[in-house]
Amino acid sequence: MNTKPLKHIAVIMDGNGRWASRRKLPRTMGHRQGVEAAKRAVEAAGNLDIPYLTLFGFSSENWNRPEDEVNELMHLLRLYLRGETAELARNNVRLRVIGDRTPFADDIVELIENAESLTLGNTGMNLTIALNYGGRHDILQAAANWAKMCQEKGLAPDVHNAETYFPGFLMTHDLP
Ligand code: IPE
Ligand code: MG
Repeated sequence: MNTKPLKHIAVIMDGNGRWASRRKLPRTMGHRQGVEAAKRAVEAAGNLDIPYLTLFGFSSENWNRPEDEVNELMHLLRLYLRGETAELARNNVRLRVIGDRTPFADDIVELIENAESLTLGNTGMNLTIALNYGGRHDILQAAANWAKMCQEKGLAPDVHNAETYFPGFLMTHDLP
């Protein structure tokens, strides 16, 4: 029997639109219910002592959705961050957001930074929300930051220093 405890679950959120259309509701209602489902997943992971939960909330392809839908998703992201940060902080949850933040509005980036710094010292569950995350972008930003560090510290950009320092620059570096 395999008794290894489950360490990390990642969920790709999908089907919000289909959930709504089956009920003859607008897609936005599906997205709202998707947020509620995400909150239940966070609570369930906490209750089951699963230390890492990753939710794929918004992909780089999602920018191609109709403008109204993107706006609604941004609205829900704001509501989630405003409404849940204090609760996560209280429940000893550490929040990380991975992905390319540059296309998000300044106030959203601020909400993310605020939530991350408020929960930085938390030692309970690790909640990671992937927003505009892509492996290719992660490798590229890690390469750029590793090269910058090498230059600043006068280190040779060689294989040895890549092996030692490069993984630490990946946004996923401290996730099992
Ligand atoms: C997931 O549901 C929500 C996001 C990607 C933001 P979808 O919007 O992809 O729902 P379906 O796939 O159209 O049902
Ligand atoms: Mg879909």
